[in-house]
Amino acid sequence: MRTPLIAGNWKLNKTVAEAQQLVSDLLPGLESISGVEKLLCPPFTALMAVAELLKGKDIGLGGQNLYWEASGAYTGEISPTMLAEFCQYVIIGHSERRAYFGETDQTVNQKVGAALAHNLTPVVCVGETLEEKEAERAAEVVSRQVKDGLSGTKISSGDDLVVAYEPVWAIGTGRAATPDDAVVIIRNVIRPTLAGLFGEGVSQGVRVLYGGSVKPGNAADFFSLEDVDGALIGGASLNANDFVAIAQAAA
Ligand code: PGA
Repeated sequence: MRTPLIAGNWKLNKTVAEAQQLVSDLLPGLESISGVEKLLCPPFTALMAVAELLKGKDIGLGGQNLYWEASGAYTGEISPTMLAEFCQYVIIGHSERRAYFGETDQTVNQKVGAALAHNLTPVVCVGETLEEKEAERAAEVVSRQVKDGLSGTKISSGDDLVVAYEPVWAIGTGRAATPDDAVVIIRNVIRPTLAGLFGEGVSQGVRVLYGGSVKPGNAADFFSLEDVDGALIGGASLNANDFVAIAQAAA
């Protein structure tokens, strides 16, 4: 049995004061939900303040990116050692990083290795663009992203890794994939590719989330499916009522 994971990706949103406000709005609702793991991924500048508010609470904290070196002359980067002071998780390879900041399967691979070496669980994002979907290349693209992003990394248990299937055309567009479309990729592409890399046992233990326009109104459709182990949520994670409602739908 895989415990569902509901993760909020706040992206480039929230000052420290706004982050503190959002966390206090979220806490009563999130704390009342059991059987679901909850995770907040604020921007770097708010991590410390959010970590303070989450002390003793059963809610995880994650970064949105990291660099693979532990320290050194890399202006503007954040190391796994620094993140591990506050976080248990880190999002790696989000499509926005791939599209705007030059992230590739190779940099994803290096970052996953660095995260694992510092006891951070990577949430690795994969997903095809609209152009790739229309060319019927979704399966090929996602399988390559999983393979090249993860090959050679030391994943020895399903708990070491989370994968988020996020079709690029569904992110921030209000146009979610149909639950059936998501299942086809998760069941026929992501899990078999993971099994090829790390063995069937590990593959069955890895949580695979869906992401892309998940809202309170469609969340239950995804979570009712055995193949979907939760969600990575952007826009709706900035609204306390919506995020709590989505987490409730996973319980
Ligand atoms: P969205 O973003 O929920 O706003 O579509 C999802 C994501 O980018 O992880």
